[in-house]
Amino acid sequence: MNLPGETTPRQRLARMVRVDHAGEYGAKRIYQGQLAVLGHGPKGDILRHMQAQEQHHLDTFSNLIADRHVRPTALLPFWHVAGFVLGAATAALGERAAMACTVAVEEAIDEHYRAQSAELDDSEAELRATIEEFRAEELEHRDIGLANDAERTPFYRALTTLIKTGCKVAIAVSERI
Ligand SMILES: [Fe+2]
Ligand SMILES: [Fe+2]
Repeated sequence: MNLPGETTPRQRLARMVRVDHAGEYGAKRIYQGQLAVLGHGPKGDILRHMQAQEQHHLDTFSNLIADRHVRPTALLPFWHVAGFVLGAATAALGERAAMACTVAVEEAIDEHYRAQSAELDDSEAELRATIEEFRAEELEHRDIGLANDAERTPFYRALTTLIKTGCKVAIAVSERI
């Protein structure tokens, strides 16, 4: 029995799809923001590779939103701007700061997807497999960031902690709103 204020499994699933759709939307916008600044530079191809994968993640969750009749987050217009600004601002600080942003975001998403995957049982095996597939690609993105000197960014710890905290707030808000 579900008490008032508790969520049903159906609501939990809707929240999962909603927040993942929002997150992939934001991720795509972050890479677009970075590409706006660094697209013609030496990191352009790496950023385009990651952005293309985010586009695939987003398309997949867009289909899930439609198939399952889940309401998208009302905050998409906000993430449209916030994602781009985060990407462009870190890129403006330099290539390493852009990579530090990637490490922070992808670590937050990895933790988020890991928790979701653990929550899903065999009745949602397909969704769980999708989440695991994407999680592996997010970890690839994190590793790309680390391989491209993310940790040599000035104030790396402070910057990544700030961005990860922002991601966690974004996740909590986008599940509900
Ligand atoms: Fe993604
Ligand atoms: Fe990613």
